[in-house]
Amino acid sequence: MSQRKLFVTTALPYANGKFHIGHIMEYIQADIWVRHQRMQGSMVHFVGADDAHGAPIMIAAEKAGKSPQQFVGEIAAGRKEYLDGFHIRFDNWHSTDSKENTELAQQIYRDLKANGLIASKTIEQFFDPAKQMFLPDRFIKGECPNCHAKDQYGDNCEVCSKVYSPTDLINPYSALSGAKPELKSSEHFFFKLSDPRSMDFLKKWTASGTVQPEVLNKISEWLVPDADGKTALGDWDISRDAPYFGIEIPDAPGKYFYVWLDAPVGYLASLKNYFDKGGARAAGESRSYEDFIADPATEQYHFIGKDIITFHTLFWPAMLHFSGRKTPNAIFVHGFLTVNNGEKMSKSRGTGLDPLKYLSLGMNPEWLRYYLAAKLNGRNEDIDFNAEDFMARVNSDLVGKYVNIASRAVRFVPGGKLVAGEPLAAIDPAALVGAVRGLYESRDYARALREVMAVADHVNTAFDAAAPWKLAKEGQGGEAAAVGSWCLQMFRLLTACLRPVLPQLAGQAEAFLQCDALDWTNAAQPLPAGHVVGGYKHLMQRVEEKQLDALFEVPAGEEPSPQPSPAGGTGSDPGGEPVAPSITIDDFLKVDMRIAKIVECKAVEGSTKLLQLSLDVGEGRLRNVFSGIASAYKPEDLVGKFTVVVANLAPRKMKFGVSEGMVLSASHADGKAQPGIYVLTAWPGAQPGMRVR
Ligand code: 2FM
Ligand code: ZN
Repeated sequence: MSQRKLFVTTALPYANGKFHIGHIMEYIQADIWVRHQRMQGSMVHFVGADDAHGAPIMIAAEKAGKSPQQFVGEIAAGRKEYLDGFHIRFDNWHSTDSKENTELAQQIYRDLKANGLIASKTIEQFFDPAKQMFLPDRFIKGECPNCHAKDQYGDNCEVCSKVYSPTDLINPYSALSGAKPELKSSEHFFFKLSDPRSMDFLKKWTASGTVQPEVLNKISEWLVPDADGKTALGDWDISRDAPYFGIEIPDAPGKYFYVWLDAPVGYLASLKNYFDKGGARAAGESRSYEDFIADPATEQYHFIGKDIITFHTLFWPAMLHFSGRKTPNAIFVHGFLTVNNGEKMSKSRGTGLDPLKYLSLGMNPEWLRYYLAAKLNGRNEDIDFNAEDFMARVNSDLVGKYVNIASRAVRFVPGGKLVAGEPLAAIDPAALVGAVRGLYESRDYARALREVMAVADHVNTAFDAAAPWKLAKEGQGGEAAAVGSWCLQMFRLLTACLRPVLPQLAGQAEAFLQCDALDWTNAAQPLPAGHVVGGYKHLMQRVEEKQLDALFEVPAGEEPSPQPSPAGGTGSDPGGEPVAPSITIDDFLKVDMRIAKIVECKAVEGSTKLLQLSLDVGEGRLRNVFSGIASAYKPEDLVGKFTVVVANLAPRKMKFGVSEGMVLSASHADGKAQPGIYVLTAWPGAQPGMRVR
């Protein structure tokens, strides 16, 4: 088979902030895939870039008193620390604010225009008379036309979630200057995605194996006609008026491409930049960028998050196709990462697990690579970083099962000289390599690692059963050496299987084994008898609890600052937190609270926080509810008391069983400074099942 030639990218991050853990997860996912490809002999060009353009970056730069170029340049300078730190090896990192991107975006636009797919239309938009610029939706605020909440953004209300256009806002104002915006008309350019040609193409392209089934399902809402034969995909507004930090539209003075038009072109721009400076040649590619990218055999893959699916599965392939270019072979979509069951790591608020803090605490980057890989299954699903789970997986699987094989086995191999012997367990190296390789290819790293750890378990069990320490004592040193040698052969096999995930550790293991760089071809071939391995140095430390405590500790002085009270007053926040935004009576009635009698209450084995309650809610049965109140009550204090329970909360599966509701209790927002939990009780006379309203 001829060598596969791949062009792989990750989504280009906005150049207005540092990387957060969500970026790092995506890069690790792609980096693992690229390393796997290289292990099977593919030639890969793996590139990234900063997404530099757009109004938010222009405005942020102005606020910082910098030119946009200087602003994005400073952000770009900080990227390497993260990428090197987590062993993420892009072949090139470029910027959408570059000569290559300008030329490519303008040419793609000209080609689309020549193909009859660009239209122009005059539209009315809000204009800031003080700033003399058209305002993006996010920079217009006003009163929600639906619930009348004040200070809502121009595109949707954060209180009632209503989606609307900025012109629907009551008393709109510019978030930049505070001025009252004026409606002003301007000519805009549109990419005719609603053209039948675009529709036909997109329906076929998306159904041709280019997207995961769950993604296809999601985007079909844009492509499947409704009862009137209309599809939801409208023409796409691709122009913005000056002042704008972006790329000028050819033959249209004062008009710029909307940032999302030139952002994906940045993939090509980074690749071209890499080719032009000789990077691809050094990797063995002798052709020019133009020849490489036009070759139908070149495979193009984009790793992205689920929030930017439409841009990548509809707009981008259509731009490429109708400008006469090759389309991507696949778009690989992943879900969001949450931390400790917390909030989604959003672009604007990447809190939770700070990647640089992780590194500065001396935590091993390959622990994180391993943990994330163990959760990524190639589907568009959210995953959670959980501190306890992290520690368990790294310490018991990675260190306890895999690394330990080497340290245990090498002690029984005198001089490190491998001897031949019978296998101690029925492990088929070629079958394992085949299975794991296939799982990496389909990005099911979670399953690949499960297979690997299952084999590591077998090896450890076989080692224990063979008990080489006894053999050595009983004068059967030769047998013990055979046991140790077989385990080292298995260690080498497992190292190969983990190599895409743990490149540094694999490198150290190869140095210890004194073997060639492992790949999918040589992994299943054992080292010959007589091969001498080097001296063993401990390969990986365990995660310590105090490291995780330090990672998630909020530094003094950075505790959440008090929020202004919603009524605009200056009073302090009751109970340590501001009152939540108003809700309607209908919202309130959605929560069904009932009087409950605590019939039984007991401690939960294995938990210091929870109590397990049996509640009579007047339903002729008892409900099982777990409540985090063990620090405040002894079980016997609660039996016989009446309390309030949220009765229509969806049952929640917890580690200790299913919880069928929530008992109400009061506490201060800062439980450390002001400890104390107070369960609500009812006045005498209230009966189980009565509704609280
Ligand atoms: O959502 C984002 O962070 C964008 N900057 C992603 C752009 S991906 C590509 F199109 F450049
Ligand atoms: Zn509203």
